[in-house]
Amino acid sequence: MEKQKAFLPTAPYKGTRDFYPDEMRFRNWMFSVMRKTVQSFGYEEYDGPILESFELYLAKSGEEIVQRQLYDFTDKGDRHVAIRPEMTPTLARMVAGEVRNLAKPIRWFSIPNLWRYEQPGKGRLREHWQLNVDLFGVNSYRAEVEIILIANAILENFKAPKGSYQIKVSHRGILDSFLNQTLALAPEKAHAVSKLLDKKSKISKEAFEEEIKPLLSNPEKQLTLIYKYLDTNLQTIGDLEGIDPSSVEFIRNLFSDLASLGIKDQLEFDPSIIRGFDYYTGCIFEVFDTNPENRRSLYGGGRYDNLIGLFSNEQLSGIGFGLGDVTFKNFLEGHGLVPKDLNSKTAVLIPLMDDKIFPEVLKLAEELRKEGIGVETMLEPAKLGKQIQTAEKKGYRFLIFLGESELSENKVQLKDIVSGEQSSVSRSDLISILRKSLLG
Ligand code: HAM
Repeated sequence: MEKQKAFLPTAPYKGTRDFYPDEMRFRNWMFSVMRKTVQSFGYEEYDGPILESFELYLAKSGEEIVQRQLYDFTDKGDRHVAIRPEMTPTLARMVAGEVRNLAKPIRWFSIPNLWRYEQPGKGRLREHWQLNVDLFGVNSYRAEVEIILIANAILENFKAPKGSYQIKVSHRGILDSFLNQTLALAPEKAHAVSKLLDKKSKISKEAFEEEIKPLLSNPEKQLTLIYKYLDTNLQTIGDLEGIDPSSVEFIRNLFSDLASLGIKDQLEFDPSIIRGFDYYTGCIFEVFDTNPENRRSLYGGGRYDNLIGLFSNEQLSGIGFGLGDVTFKNFLEGHGLVPKDLNSKTAVLIPLMDDKIFPEVLKLAEELRKEGIGVETMLEPAKLGKQIQTAEKKGYRFLIFLGESELSENKVQLKDIVSGEQSSVSRSDLISILRKSLLG
């Protein structure tokens, strides 16, 4: 009996995506809007290697990333390496390496692909792309003002309506003082409680209380304080005993400046914002979609004061955010913000009717390309109907027919696929007609 041939699967590795041209066009469009926005604030693009030493993450990325989500292995030279799960450690390493030479404030952005060994699900994959925007060298809350302004400008440039997202802000100083002073927890307990507060919205009240009680010395009193803390707003947070007043003042100043810049309704103080990374030291924030179908955060970020200190004696405070493509795509689709014409190419296809004129077809294509018009040519003759079908399927806007008779008259037949009109035009008019329709 003949053995059945075993084919390799065409599906990509679990939790990753193939970007076929349609998806790639979407990704490019999405990041081009973001790139333009951050460049308009003076941010410059950087990149780094996808592979880093394991130690880079061990220091400050936090337990969840290091123990559960890192893709790490030993290379052929016996080095323990990891695929980047986030960009911030690479960025800190790069900035630290050149810190004396770089003009401050440093404003940088990057769009890396990142890998985390996660259980794939809605809004969560093992590989995602993440816009990172970071600012170094400004200690006051004005850096936060700028970073949140950029986060908001990105959404505005996608024409996101004001009510479609919420920017939730807190401060590690507020959280730490609550855990250490108000609740008087020892450091390991404080850490465990903060992890549980982070998890709280994803589990039931009963499960939360069951898990937190063993960490508390006086559960009744401390739980009441925890609920009180979670219920505070920017006016009342300062009334809670033990809360660091300078952190509260920092956030109040930030909110006041942002309000005067028109960012008020979409901004909310939320003490339950924790952020999983250990490196955050100051203001922390997340941006959420208000669509209940897309509950994961769109952006996450905050201030990290001591990260450069891992590499040298220099002190340089940084603040920034990461914005992932998976949840952002869900956001754009959920709110109907993807342009309808994204999939249609605005360019030209020249069918080939006759082998003999192949060089003439290429010459015409070259003439148009030199004028900035994108042209695809058919390389083998086929029936006209089939070539028109191909042009339609590929989303072309114009077809140019070139035959012996057109050549002798120095003309072409130009067909507009959108309007269906076809006309004979001279070669000299062709370029201006196409430029006008395609390049505006
Ligand atoms: P993060 O909160 O881990 O922060 O990630 C930022 C954003 O990336 C999230 O809000 C989410 O949109 C997206 N994201 C994260 N993990 C995944 C995943 N597995 N699948 C899909 N999307 C994901 C950071 O990574 C910080 N390093 C950001 C930062 C920059 N902080 C300061 N500067």
